[in-house]
Amino acid sequence: MSDETTRKKVALSGVQPSGNLTIGNYLGALSNFGPFTDEFDCYYCVANLHSITVRQVPAELRRRTYEVLALYIACGLDPDKCTLFVQSHVHEHAELSWMLSCFTMFGELSRMTQFKDKSAKHADNINAGLFTYPVLMAADILLYQADVVPIGQDQKQHLELARNIADRFNGIYSPTFTVPEPYIPKVGANINSLADPTKKMSKSDTNENAVVRILDPRDVIIKKFKRAVTDSDNCISYNNGSDGVRNLMTIYSCFTHKSYDEIEREFDGRGYGDFKTAVGEACADGLADVQKKYGELMADKSYLESVMRAGAEKASHTASKTVAKVARKLGFVQI
Ligand code: TYM
Repeated sequence: MSDETTRKKVALSGVQPSGNLTIGNYLGALSNFGPFTDEFDCYYCVANLHSITVRQVPAELRRRTYEVLALYIACGLDPDKCTLFVQSHVHEHAELSWMLSCFTMFGELSRMTQFKDKSAKHADNINAGLFTYPVLMAADILLYQADVVPIGQDQKQHLELARNIADRFNGIYSPTFTVPEPYIPKVGANINSLADPTKKMSKSDTNENAVVRILDPRDVIIKKFKRAVTDSDNCISYNNGSDGVRNLMTIYSCFTHKSYDEIEREFDGRGYGDFKTAVGEACADGLADVQKKYGELMADKSYLESVMRAGAEKASHTASKTVAKVARKLGFVQI
C-alpha cells in the first residue's frame, strides 16, 4: 500500500502562551483537541513564536509555556497518544514560514482582521512579525500536512489564508501540502466578553470581570458570572435574548450539553440571578478536574520538560521531512 493510503489523518492546532487562558480558549479550542486523538495523528503546539509579536516579559513567557503545556495534558491530551510540543523547539517553523512568505501576497496579509485589530491596539509596535504572523501559522499547519485544524471562529480567516498558500504552492510546484480544513465547533466557537458581550473574550483583556480564566478559583468564577452584563428584560431566550444572555446560554450549553430549548424551559419564569448562578456553577464544576490535574502537573516541571523533549523530537521528525521536500522543489541544493 502506498504512503497515502496507510497514512492516518493529521490534526494540528496551537495556543499562544501570551496570557492566562480563558474559557473561550477552552470551549472554542482546547476541549475539542482530545476527541481527535483516537483517530488522528495529532500535533498540538504551544505557539510561543507567535507570542513575541507583542512585547512579552521573558520570565512570564517562559512560565506560561509550561502552563499551556500542563493545561493541554490537564484537558485530557495524553502525551503518549499525541505530539505535544513547544513551537520554538522545532526550528522548521521559522524556516518554512520564510519560504511561505514568498508565496503570500502583501494584499492578503493586509486584509487580516486580527492584524488590523492588533495594530490598532499596539500602535507603538506595529512590527513586521505582527503582519506576517498568519504565514507562521500557515507554516505550523502545513509542516505537519494537517488535514484538520480545530480552532475557534476568530482563527478562521488565518486558516483560509493557509489553505490559499497551500493551493498556490501546490499549483506551482505539484502537490506538496495537504490543504487543511478547519474544525470549528457548532457551539462555543465564539465566546464573548462578560463585560461587553459584543466583543470576543480575550486572554489579554485588562478588565478581569470580562474574562473567566480556566484557572480562576470556583468563587471567582461564580462572582464573575453574577456580574455578567445582560439587560433588564429577564428574557432567557436564545432568539429573543440580548447578546449577553445568548453568550451565557452558549457557555451553559457547552458545560451542561443542554440544548438552547432545554435551557429556556429550565429557566422559564425564573430570573437572571438564578440563571447566572447556574452558569457560574456549571462552569466551575466543568473546570474542577482540569484545575486539579493542572496543579499536580505544575508541581512536576521535570515531567513537563520530558514531554517537551519527546514532543520536539517527534515534531521535528515530521517537520524536517516537509521542509526537505519544499527545499527540493524550490531548487535549494541539498548536501
Ligand atoms: P489563541 O492563542 O489566541 O487562541 C487559542 C485558540 O482558542 C480559540 N479562541 C476562542 N474560541 C472561542 N471563543 C473565544 N473567545 C476564543 N478566544 C480564542 C482560538 O480560535 C484558538 O483556536 N494563532 C493562534 C494560535 C496558533 C494556531 C496555529 C492555531 C498558532 N499556530 C496553528 C491553529 C493552528 C492564536 O493566536 O490562538
